[in-house]
Amino acid sequence: MARDITLSVIKADVGGWVGHSAMHPDLEAAAREVLEGARARGLLIDYHVTHCGDDLELIMTHDRGVESPDVHGTAWEAFEKATEVARQLKLYGAGQDLLSDAFSGNVKGMGPGVAEMAFVERKSEAVIVFMGDKTSPGAWNLPLFKIFADPFNTAGLVISPTLHEGFRFEVHDVLKHKRITLSCPEEMYDLLMFLGAPARFNIKAVYSKATGEIAAVSSTERLSLMAGRYVGKDDPVCVVRCQSQFPAVGEVLEPFAFPHIVEGWMRGSHHGPLMPVSAREARPSRFDGPPRVVALGFQLADGRLIGPVDMFDDPSFDEARRQANLIAEYLRRHGPFEPHRLPLEEMEYTTMPELMGRLAERMEEMDGQRAAPSATVRQDEEMEVD
Ligand code: F6R
Ligand code: MG
Ligand code: MG
Repeated sequence: MARDITLSVIKADVGGWVGHSAMHPDLEAAAREVLEGARARGLLIDYHVTHCGDDLELIMTHDRGVESPDVHGTAWEAFEKATEVARQLKLYGAGQDLLSDAFSGNVKGMGPGVAEMAFVERKSEAVIVFMGDKTSPGAWNLPLFKIFADPFNTAGLVISPTLHEGFRFEVHDVLKHKRITLSCPEEMYDLLMFLGAPARFNIKAVYSKATGEIAAVSSTERLSLMAGRYVGKDDPVCVVRCQSQFPAVGEVLEPFAFPHIVEGWMRGSHHGPLMPVSAREARPSRFDGPPRVVALGFQLADGRLIGPVDMFDDPSFDEARRQANLIAEYLRRHGPFEPHRLPLEEMEYTTMPELMGRLAERMEEMDGQRAAPSATVRQDEEMEVD
């Protein structure tokens, strides 16, 4: 019997083991206990607790719809309980995404990241939950575009009547707090103009044009903004429905065979390749990285999570991992130079304001030359859309 199901993925970094690299099993155990209680009293249908790097990931099913205060409250309680354990073990940055008292040098973490969707469960409902660490929600732009709009990735867009009509993309401007929905294939070039700037424009959701149904959702709304600029690159999650009127599992995973360059890595301030790994290998250690993505697949059965299958635990992604290591090595050799290091305006940590203040006295006007506005400033002015 078809049934309305909500799939909620809520995540937070409440303490790393060791440093920002991995998750202590006792934190997962604490979270599991809370979610088991919620299942026993009928709030949750099912749940799976896992991690990607230092992020605690709660995958939950229920019938309360998106943004349910009860479900969110349960997730919060799980993070609080895990934080208590993290404090006992003096893990790094304990409670950092829940208003930390152990300063981790990072202003981010206004709260947990959330990706939720409600739908009528199909006769057979295959979903994949993607989880990233040491990266930012813009990391999903390229793969989501390829999955739902690129016929060289998704054969079904050409040869399957149920996909041929295309998909609609809801894009958020995370700086200006605006959103726009664009339809593919006909508005593909307009869409790419936005998606190519993943630091500012993120895909929030994707919808099937044939049925209007939701196909994918990601966590973008928690990006912290302060004084009109980014503070923090929340490690993102994304849920994609697969098969039948949606792309096949293999089409959904295919973009990750290309380890594209994303923002994040050390101090959230570097470009690096997104390496697809098994859950076991999501333990970023080299230069706090390189950035990772894990994909867990489930079949839903009246809301029960049948799984997970660890989708990147497959030798066919070995080459992507090898390429990611080559790219990582190449970028690392740039040290503190762009494009390995992010441009100034996108860096989480920067000593630049302090440095400019300290050296202000020594910064001389150059005779006979007035400073021309930089190309970047001119471009920003032209991009004003309000
Ligand atoms: C990146 C990340 C780490 C930390 C780095 C320094 O997202 O979390 O790379 O930025 O380990 O951490 P602090 O400043 O806490 O010593
Ligand atoms: Mg951390
Ligand atoms: Mg993290």
